[in-house]
Amino acid sequence: MGKDVIVALDFPNAEKTFEFIDKFENFGRKPFVKIGMELFYSEGSKIVREIKSRGHKIFLDLKLHDIPNTVKGAMRSLRNLGVDMTNVHASGAIEMMKAAVEGLTNDDGTRPILIAVTQLTSTSQDIMTKELLISKPLEEVVIHYARNAFNAGLNGVVCSPLEAKLIHDEVGKDFYTVTPGIRFRGDDVGDQARVTDPKKAKELGSDFIVVGRPITKSLDPVKTYEKCIKEFCEE
Ligand code: C5P
Repeated sequence: MGKDVIVALDFPNAEKTFEFIDKFENFGRKPFVKIGMELFYSEGSKIVREIKSRGHKIFLDLKLHDIPNTVKGAMRSLRNLGVDMTNVHASGAIEMMKAAVEGLTNDDGTRPILIAVTQLTSTSQDIMTKELLISKPLEEVVIHYARNAFNAGLNGVVCSPLEAKLIHDEVGKDFYTVTPGIRFRGDDVGDQARVTDPKKAKELGSDFIVVGRPITKSLDPVKTYEKCIKEFCEE
């Protein structure tokens, strides 16, 4: 799968989601979209099937984290939805990630892209050291978890564009980096701490950028999406 822009559908219900998606009806490209916990928990798997049937690729961002057997079963349920990408927490450890791969794999051996969250971007070095009692530097932990994900057979990690090069250098250039924290110059940064624009994310080697509010809250979402595609996929 080539470089792409993934639009985060962070909406509370189906009505608001389709109101947004309908804006792209006459646009030549169906955006790759991300469905997270907010929408999935309110609308269930039906919304995934509906968006899929409209021709969109889907990243189902549910960040699974449980004992290996439970994660395997959960992934077996999710694999029937026909999503293109989904994820787990790398902190669930290697056996759990291997179980996720097993559960997600179809009878013919194919499966969606499976990626891991290393450390949440809301977790600072201070939180890691003082609350979680993880004494190593954050960057070392991120790289180590990415290697664990690779060794468990996963395809990539969610990370900051600023970490993409390091992860490609340390883990492998074909290991996907899926990067949120995208903003255009002059945008409201919101709760994201370290941000880059699509052009910079491309230069840094991101494979997929995840863009939420800069597109969903834009006065002209289609135009902003088009700008992301131009900068990240084409130029
Ligand atoms: O609105 P914004 O562009 O900040 O949205 C980014 C999306 O990426 C949100 O859906 C957020 O949950 C997700 N995300 C993130 N940072 C992570 C993992 C996921 O911002 N580390």
